[in-house]
Amino acid sequence: MTDNTLFCWSDAFALGYPQMDATHQEFVATVNAMFTASDDDLRTALDAFAEHAQRHFAEEADWMTSTGFPAAGCHMDEHDAVLKSVAEVQGLFRDAHPDAVATARRLARELANWFPGHADYLDSALAQWMVKRIHGAVPLVFRRSATSAGQPAVPDERGHTQPEQLRAE
Ligand SMILES: [Fe+2]
Ligand SMILES: [Fe+2]
Repeated sequence: MTDNTLFCWSDAFALGYPQMDATHQEFVATVNAMFTASDDDLRTALDAFAEHAQRHFAEEADWMTSTGFPAAGCHMDEHDAVLKSVAEVQGLFRDAHPDAVATARRLARELANWFPGHADYLDSALAQWMVKRIHGAVPLVFRRSATSAGQPAVPDERGHTQPEQLRAE
């Protein structure tokens, strides 16, 4: 049985550092594949996510270490916790554990819940750091999810005004 709940890319995830945004789109796609895979295909989807996650997190770790990014430790700790969980679920499949499929489905939901906060609080700081190093300015983010025409833009909980506007992080 498949879980048809979809995890979709949203402009709200865009952080303004193109390499990172491209990787994050791939993250969303590989997690979504775990939502939509049949039970028979779920192990393959999990392995594809594991491969993605290792590359994704290694890329960010490389950016952090090569540029002397401050406070990289807790960011990498979160990555390590994800990789550990993924490896545990891969182990269930290897052992033909009866809970492997259900656990992988749960992992997909947890990844979808985890990602927005991680991107917002940790990856966004790294994106700003990288863009600032490259361009000497913070990133500008275009977002499509708009307020109605003529309505005033309302600041969100982070104090950012919504869309149809340039947002300077
Ligand atoms: Fe990331
Ligand atoms: Fe990250």
